Parts: sequence; C-alpha cells; structure tokens
Amino acid sequence: MNFELSDEQRAIQQLVHDLCIESVEPRAAEIDAKGEFPWDIKDLFARHDILGIPFPPEYGGVSGSALAVVLAIEEISKVCANSSLILSVQSLGSLPIVLGGTDEQKRRFLPPLASGEKLAAYALTEPGSGSDAGGMRTHAVRHGDTYVLNGSKTFITGGSVADTIVVFARTDRDGQGEARDISAFVVEKMMPGFRVGKLEKKLGIRGSPTAQLFFEDVAIPAANLLGPEGEGFKLAMRVLDHSRPGIAAQALGIAEGAFAVARRYAAQRKQFGKPINEFQGIQFMLADMATAIEAARMLTYAAGDALDRRLKTITVTSSMAKVFASDVAMRVTTDAVQVLGGYGYLRDFPVERMMRDAKITQIYEGTNEIQRLVIARELLKEAG
Ligand code: CAA
Repeated sequence: MNFELSDEQRAIQQLVHDLCIESVEPRAAEIDAKGEFPWDIKDLFARHDILGIPFPPEYGGVSGSALAVVLAIEEISKVCANSSLILSVQSLGSLPIVLGGTDEQKRRFLPPLASGEKLAAYALTEPGSGSDAGGMRTHAVRHGDTYVLNGSKTFITGGSVADTIVVFARTDRDGQGEARDISAFVVEKMMPGFRVGKLEKKLGIRGSPTAQLFFEDVAIPAANLLGPEGEGFKLAMRVLDHSRPGIAAQALGIAEGAFAVARRYAAQRKQFGKPINEFQGIQFMLADMATAIEAARMLTYAAGDALDRRLKTITVTSSMAKVFASDVAMRVTTDAVQVLGGYGYLRDFPVERMMRDAKITQIYEGTNEIQRLVIARELLKEAG
C-alpha cells in the first residue's frame, strides 16, 4: 500500500535507510549490550543532517515536516531503537520552542539543535506525577527578570546528555494550584544549580539514558520563558500531540525490523524436512504480523500528515497512531521471537532486543491507557 510522499520526504527516507543499513545496524547489538549512549551515531546523524529534519530551513534545519520525522524515525528503528531516540528526543525537546517560542527564542535556541551541536530534552514527568502531568511540584518563582527554579524531574529521556532542556514548572504562588498554573522554561545544562541524578537501569532502550534531574535555585532569565506564564500545560499537551506520531514510528520500525528477521528465518530454518514457512501455523503468524504492520504504517503516516496539514484532528490521530502501533510492535516482536523458537530467545538474534525495546513504546509519552483516555475524551466532545 502506498502513501503519497513528497520528493523531499522520499529522499529523506532513502538517505536514512541507506545510512542505517551501512552504519547503524552493525552497532545496534553492541549499543544495547553496553548500555551506553552512542555518541558516534549522534555525530553520524549530525554530519548527515538527520538531526536537522525536525527543523525548518530558517532555523538551520532541513525540513520541518512531521511526516519526514516519522519516516526517518521508522527507518532508524527498523535496525536500532536506541539510535532512533537520538532523533525523536531532539524533536521532542525542541518542539516546545518550535511551537511556543518567539522568533527571537527560535533563533537563539534552534540552530545548534538543528545542527546537532547541542542535544535537547523534554522534562515533564516527576516522581509523583506521571500520567497526571498536571500534578507536578517543581516550581519557579519570579524575581524581577529571573525565575528561580526548584524541584526534580524523573524518567527524562536523554536528560544526562542534553544541553538544552525544556522544563515544566508551577508558577503559582503556593505550588498547589491548577494545571493551568504551569509554565515552560528553557534550562541550559551549564546553569548553576542544575544537576543530573541517577541513570535508570532498564529492560530495553538501554543505550538511551533515562535520567533524574535536579534543580536547586536555578536562576533562569525571564527571556527563557516559552509562551505566556501559566500556559505551559497546554504547550506540554500540544507538544505531545506532535511527538506521539514519532513514538508510533519507532514502534512501527521495531515491528518491521522484527518481521523482516522472522520472515528470513522462517525461509531458512528446516524442520520435519522442509522450511518452517511451509507450515500453515507459521504462515498465518507471518500474515497476521504483516497485516498489523501495514495498518500501523497507514495510521502512523496519517498522523504525521495530519500534523503537516495542521488538521484539527491531530490530538486524536496522534494518540490513535501511538496506541495502535505500539500494541502492534509488542505483538509482532513477541511473535517474531516465537517464530525463531529457542533462537529467538538468544542474544545471537536481534528479535529479543526488539521485543524488549518495543515494550517502552506502550508506556512513554503517555501510557496507552492515557492514549485511550485522550481518544475517548475527544470522541465524547465530538458527540457533544
Ligand atoms: N492541546 C492543547 N490543550 C490541551 C490539550 C491538547 N492536546 N489537552 C489538554 N489541553 C488543555 C485543556 O483544554 C485544558 O484547558 P482549560 O484549562 O483552558 O480548560 C487544560 O489543558 C487541562 O486539560 P485536562 O483537563 O484535559 O487535563 P488533565 O489533568 O485531565 O490531563 C491528560 C490530561 C491527557 C491525562 C494529560 O495529563 C496527559 O497527557 N498525561 C500523560 C502525560 C505524558 O504523556 N507524559 C509523558 C512524558 S514525556 C515522555 O515520556 C518523553 C520521553 O521521555 C521520551
């Protein structure tokens, strides 16, 4: 099935595909095994302008198309989910500036992110506020031209390697107010009082650091406030509308990668005197996997396309793509391990890594339960 892509989107897809087959796939198992951030892949992406894909040319980028970002993340994820996170977090961490920043802020912050000279992160979650993002306790108090930030964040993807971090904090007086009293600030890693805490040990995406961040009397210039004070929660939600198709693309790519391994293996592996792909049990599994992947691909591309077209439906299409593609990724990777049998369970083949990496796509950027809640709320709104 085909989705209409522009020449630019097709060219980006091909470039990323070729680069990943040549230089990322050979590193994927090692990145997972060592559990270290792959600086070499980050540099490779920066050199080939892949980190510039989320940004329009006027801010040093090469595209700015959400569908192009989706296509690139999908291609990288087919071979290495860890590496795909370098691009998706660059996009996620920059989106509050792209969507909420003034032209001056965009000129100040975006070019070094588009070139890959600097890395971005998005700091919303706290130990006590995950799904209930509005329940955060980190707060910022204004003194003249400066906000003083105190608190902590947790589960921050790329938090330990980022230079530019968008932090959401309460700006109400007593820290007890409503969700609308939240504001967004650009924090830079050299600011005194900013500290990276422990890195989490995880089931999958082991080469993507997940950090705790601490802020102790961090003085942030008021010029780093994104959008009006108190409008940060809505900005955080708009960002997630724009970034969730990227998680759908990651899930889709992981599923496609696992399917390719399973299909190849089933053609080569012989039991009872013939390749196992001649058994109907395996054929039906492969057919179901391919069908689910195709449906996830269409929904994910449609979500990226809806963002590019600025359709009103983006909240619901982004959540639908994320929930569907991530559930498909979990099912397809689990079935891929099953097709490979005992070998699927070994580190000698990539499918066990893909299964571990797939799991997070059902959890981060809003659990799939939150996606269903978002979809249901939008449907109920439509029904009046
Ligand atoms: N766009 C614009 N505004 C929005 C919006 C959207 N998509 N969604 C909500 N809002 C607005 C509402 O209209 C409302 O505005 P008013 O006050 O003017 O009426 C305001 O925001 C509050 O909205 P809700 O009443 O819906 O807020 P809520 O407290 O019920 O929460 C929620 C809604 C959907 C559950 C939200 O908290 C949520 O999305 N939670 C999940 C958080 C999440 O995804 N965290 C992931 C962290 S990032 C991450 O994982 C990245 C990583 O490391 C890779």
